[in-house]
Amino acid sequence: MRNLNRKSSEPLHSTRTNENVAKPLPFRMPLSGISNRTLDNHHDKLYAGYVQKKHEIETRLESLEHDVARGKSVSGNPAYSELRALKDGETYAVNGVYLHEWYFEGLGGNGEFDRASELVRELENRYGTAESFMKYFGECAMASRGWTVLAWDTKASRLKVYNCDAHNQGGVWGALPVVVLDVYEHAYFIDFGADRQKYIVTFWKNFDWSAANDLFKRVSTMRLAA
Ligand SMILES: [Fe+2]
Repeated sequence: MRNLNRKSSEPLHSTRTNENVAKPLPFRMPLSGISNRTLDNHHDKLYAGYVQKKHEIETRLESLEHDVARGKSVSGNPAYSELRALKDGETYAVNGVYLHEWYFEGLGGNGEFDRASELVRELENRYGTAESFMKYFGECAMASRGWTVLAWDTKASRLKVYNCDAHNQGGVWGALPVVVLDVYEHAYFIDFGADRQKYIVTFWKNFDWSAANDLFKRVSTMRLAA
C-alpha cells in the first residue's frame, strides 16, 4: 500500500513478517465527507484487530497442523473441535484483512474517471455508462449486509458484482476484487447515521479510479475458463 504521510505510520504490531503488520492508510487524511474519527476507528481498531487475530490464528494453526499431520492430534470434528474453530476463524480474519486493504486502497482519489480508460470501457460495454454501473453497484450495496465487490471473475472472464454478508460468506473463489465497498455500519454510522445512500455517494467522490484501473489491468489477464 502507498504510505502518504499517515499521521502514525508506525506498524501497529511488531511481528515477524510484513503480512502480519497492519498497513498504514494509503492516502492522506482527511477524506471528503468521511471523518478522521471514522477512519481512526475503522483502520486503527477494526482492521488492525483483524490483522492481529489473523496472525494469532495462523500461529496456532501452524502448530496444530504439524501435530495433525504427524498423527499426534485428532481434531477434525465438525460439531466442535479446535481445528474446526480455527479454520472458521481463519477465513473470517483473512478476508477481514484482505477486504479492508482493498477498500482502503480504493479511497483517497477524486472520483474522476480520466485515468481509468480500460476499466471504464469494460464497464461501458456491460452497463452502458460508468454512471449506470455505479447505480447498479450502489443498489447492490444497499442490499448487502457487509460487502459489495466488483470482481474480475476468472471463470466467466468478465466483471461481476458480488455481495458478502460476512467476510467469509458470499465470496466466490476465482473472483479477483477491483472495487471493494464496506457497508457494515461501522464504515458510515458516525458520519451518516442510517443514511447509507449518502455514504455510498461519498465513497464514489473519494474513489481512486486510477488505482482501480491498474488493478483491473492486472487481474483481467487471468482467465481460467476451460
Ligand atoms: Fe469495515
